[in-house]
Amino acid sequence: MTDSHVSTWILTLVLFGVALILNKKGNAKGFKIIHMILRVFYLLTIVTGVMLLYILSPMYIVKIVVGLWIISLIELILIRTAKNKKTSVLWYQFGFAFLLVLYLGLKLPLGFHPFS
Ligand code: HEM
Repeated sequence: MTDSHVSTWILTLVLFGVALILNKKGNAKGFKIIHMILRVFYLLTIVTGVMLLYILSPMYIVKIVVGLWIISLIELILIRTAKNKKTSVLWYQFGFAFLLVLYLGLKLPLGFHPFS
């Protein structure tokens, strides 16, 4: 049931990594294309996440906010990296938000729940 959501956010992370590598290699055209595909995956992650909503408890609201926070961070990191600007603060947030969203997603009732 959570498969489509997990698949889309994993692909989002993979494309994020590919975009960073392409940028490092100086492949501006490849970076632009992957960045555009990545934006479609942001939407797919959000849509598949919303489709899993069946109640709106406080924990779900936090899960959604942190999920959206991660997507915003990916976008900000890519834009700032491409402009050669500092991204360390964004990366700290990314690490923290990613661990938090994994915990919340796995703690909530659908799909896998190793923490409950
Ligand atoms: C990159 C961002 C995101 C990551 C890494 C992520 C991660 C996860 C994980 C690990 C799960 C648990 C899956 C399972 O147990 O099988 C999950 C479930 C879920 N996610 Fe996300 N998510 C992200 C974005 C979003 C967004 C943007 C939304 C909403 C708009 C959302 C809503 C949900 C909902 C409602 C569930 C079901 C929770 C449950 O009842 O178990 N997620 N997500």
